[in-house]
Amino acid sequence: MEKEEQNIYNSPEYEDFKQKLRKIIGLDLNSYKTQIHRRVHMLKDRWNVKTYGEYFDMIKNDDKKLREFLDHLTINVSEFFRNDKQWWRMRDQLIPELIKKRAHKRLKLWSCGCATGEEPYSLAIISVVTGLEASTPVLACDIDQGALHLAQQGHYLRRQLMAAPPEYLSKYFTTADKGETYQVNADIKRRVTFKRFNMIDDSFGTGFDIILCRNVVIYFTPATKEQLYKKFFNALAPGGYFLVGSTEQIFEYKQIGFENAGPFLYTRA
Ligand SMILES: C[S@@+](CC[C@H](N)C(=O)[O-])C[C@H]1O[C@@H](n2cnc3c(N)ncnc32)[C@H](O)[C@@H]1O
Repeated sequence: MEKEEQNIYNSPEYEDFKQKLRKIIGLDLNSYKTQIHRRVHMLKDRWNVKTYGEYFDMIKNDDKKLREFLDHLTINVSEFFRNDKQWWRMRDQLIPELIKKRAHKRLKLWSCGCATGEEPYSLAIISVVTGLEASTPVLACDIDQGALHLAQQGHYLRRQLMAAPPEYLSKYFTTADKGETYQVNADIKRRVTFKRFNMIDDSFGTGFDIILCRNVVIYFTPATKEQLYKKFFNALAPGGYFLVGSTEQIFEYKQIGFENAGPFLYTRA
């Protein structure tokens, strides 16, 4: 690390920023490597903010900025029903169509880069709501063992559930700490299998009806992304769907073999 960079990262102003940030998002940037601090400062420059105070206020007062900030740091932050429109489309259109096409109610679902479990548990809830069999497997993979450990516990804060419809909260969670924390109910947990998995090195399964890989590959080089998209295509069953994050797009989807099936959604014919 260069001397100047080191001075910036050790400055009292940055320390104060990190402390304040820790209070609002529960994330201790001091446990992260230089690369993360570099990223924090890259984004500060990109947003063209001059002081840490201004930077902090932007993050604190604008949920979109907060999300952009966390995503930029490649940290495993997630939430239930993130980008909720994608979820309602899956519930109201994709899964009912797949049930008809397959003529059975046992689909194979995969959340790749599942972080702390919000995404696969959302998938499991949608499986229940759409009448999929209890034996419907939801595979949930992440490289980060710590995140998987938290996922398996299934405890969440209210703010991670902001997009969940109230009836889902009452049906699929049990509250504790006077409504501050939510525990995923056992029937939902039972549907999800968590597995440590490195999507760059490990081989993919096959025959998936729906694969979600959202807000993960954004940290990878274009060449790696392309290889991964090919692997996802091969992992899909014909007629299956591949969902990406709401800032992502597969430019070369046709060459890979995908068909575009709507915003952030691809299918294998
Ligand atoms: C921002 S989270 C995305 C969580 C969730 N998919 C969502 O959209 O809310 C990115 C996750 O990708 C995981 N990840 C990063 N590189 C990975 C890799 N090579 N293989 C598997 N998971 C990876 C990280 O550990 C992190 O939990």
